[in-house]
Amino acid sequence: MGPGAVAWLLALLALAEAGRNFRLLRQRVLQQREVRAMKEALAGRWLPRPAPWRAPIEGTLRQPLDHFDRQEGRSFPQRFWVNEEHWHRPAGPVFLFVGGESALSPFAVLSGHHMELAQKYGALALALEHRFYGASINPDGLQDDSLRFLSSQQALADLAAFHLYITERYSLRENSTWVCFGGSYPGSLAAWLRLKFPHLVFAAVASSAPVRAQLDFTGYNQVVAASLSDPVVGGSALCHEAVAGAFAAVDQRLAAGRLDELEKDFRSCGPLAEAGDREELAGNLADIFMGAVQYNDEGFAGGTVAKLCRIMTDAGLGSPYQRLLAVNNGFLESMALPCLENSRQHALTELRSTNLSLSGVGERQWYFQTCTEFGYYQTCEDPTCPFSRLLTLADQLDFCSQLFGVAPQRVEGAVNFTNEYYGADHPRASRLLFVNGNIDPWHALSVLRNQSRSELAILINGTSHCANMNPSRPSDPLPLVRARQRIDDHVGQWLRWARTEPSAA
Ligand SMILES: *[C@@H]1O[C@H](CO)[C@@H](O)[C@H](O)[C@H]1NC(C)=O
Ligand SMILES: *[C@@H]1O[C@H](CO)[C@@H](O)[C@H](O)[C@H]1NC(C)=O
Ligand SMILES: *[C@@H]1O[C@H](CO)[C@@H](O)[C@H](O)[C@H]1NC(C)=O
Ligand SMILES: *[C@@H]1O[C@H](CO)[C@@H](O)[C@H](O)[C@H]1NC(C)=O
Ligand SMILES: *[C@@H]1O[C@H](CO)[C@@H](O)[C@H](O)[C@H]1NC(C)=O
Repeated sequence: MGPGAVAWLLALLALAEAGRNFRLLRQRVLQQREVRAMKEALAGRWLPRPAPWRAPIEGTLRQPLDHFDRQEGRSFPQRFWVNEEHWHRPAGPVFLFVGGESALSPFAVLSGHHMELAQKYGALALALEHRFYGASINPDGLQDDSLRFLSSQQALADLAAFHLYITERYSLRENSTWVCFGGSYPGSLAAWLRLKFPHLVFAAVASSAPVRAQLDFTGYNQVVAASLSDPVVGGSALCHEAVAGAFAAVDQRLAAGRLDELEKDFRSCGPLAEAGDREELAGNLADIFMGAVQYNDEGFAGGTVAKLCRIMTDAGLGSPYQRLLAVNNGFLESMALPCLENSRQHALTELRSTNLSLSGVGERQWYFQTCTEFGYYQTCEDPTCPFSRLLTLADQLDFCSQLFGVAPQRVEGAVNFTNEYYGADHPRASRLLFVNGNIDPWHALSVLRNQSRSELAILINGTSHCANMNPSRPSDPLPLVRARQRIDDHVGQWLRWARTEPSAA
């Protein structure tokens, strides 16, 4: 464990804890994943090793702020990690882990399924933090004028420049075989890197990658509803009904103006007095269920589908509305929160803050990318959605106007452009593998079926967001074990092709 990792761990423990429930959940899950990765990495270190262990190297690369305008002379520092431990130099392949909307850490090149593969195939392991997230940002990076340099296209150009830099620094051969890996938004980036720079990257594994941009992502809550009904993860039709009933009761109270009652019942930090506060409450309560579904496989204490459904179907607790109170109380307790923060002004103030946070998810940056590239708004206007009707597209788009001055029409145009530019869920690339779990709400925007002989898809029964990227564990369900085996088979096959048909691009 190098000093870098220790400093990083201290930063992690100091994570700011504020904002809407889903933001908190994401931070916690991230934290949990990293702690688990650290434990596994440390456990491995105590075993006797044939060779002295070489810690991952952390480095910084100066990148142009704008790859597409030579007149723009400014740059920013981009952080990366290199692990040479498994590398069969000089001919071994290069595995690149793509960073996304949160800070990366040394564990990106120490732990995870891609590192099991790196060990097996003798790969040089690399990870590049995404521009404007973590420490890969200038001090003024979160100001409006700087954010215009944040985009997936700039991020892909960063990855291409990183390829050149590493090739020189490690004296790699021109024909080295690069395979890239990413999960969630970085999964899309991994696929798009292969699509747009096929001469640099031989193949890509894109996990839980929402490659189709969508303004109104109603499909998200359709999958959440299906997962709350799915017995494979402990859901049931009864659970789904109870959740829908509880939120209908919340909506009735909101419509009837019974705000005092809601504030008290859900332990609101303040009165639901200002515009947007009622929507924040509705969103916070829905977030508990969305988070449980999206991160069901993370063993997160805040709730699994099975745990929430046990509470929501327990008639002993009273009406579905009263069971929802119990869910909320349990959530606040597990997150060690004194009350539920439902102030819209509070949320806006946080998202407007240009203070840098070197760890965790970059919420302001990510909101900016949804407004200018992807949409992905998880609405509840569809009749099949089990949550509050206050979760509207208009309300979420209002953030784009208020935070960045981006009008709804421009968000829609940006989403259209993204799909035309990258090909949405029909990217027409080759040597691409899309991996999804059917419990994960994001699979609705990914590639679920083979598109061609070299654009392949695996859909895992019963797993959630990016489950296949975690390190293998003895308790993994069989469909997950099989999926990892198939990923391994494809990677092995690509590497054999690269040797036998070196010119195949
Ligand atoms: C940003 O930093 C300033 C100065 O340290 C501090 O006063 C302010 O509360 C911070 N804002 C947020 C939203 O964290
Ligand atoms: C985006 O695409 C949709 C579907 O093709 C179209 O109806 C809409 O007018 C487009 N919007 C903008 C702003 O380009
Ligand atoms: C997709 O292609 C792979 C590799 O050719 C094959 O093993 C798999 O059965 C195909 N899946 C489907 C659903 O056809
Ligand atoms: C998923 O697995 C369960 C058994 O664990 C089975 O009942 C169900 O049909 C499977 N679903 C799909 C979509 O294959
Ligand atoms: C790369 O080229 C070298 C010769 O320069 C050759 O020995 C090696 O097999 C090639 N490797 C691959 C993966 O094609």
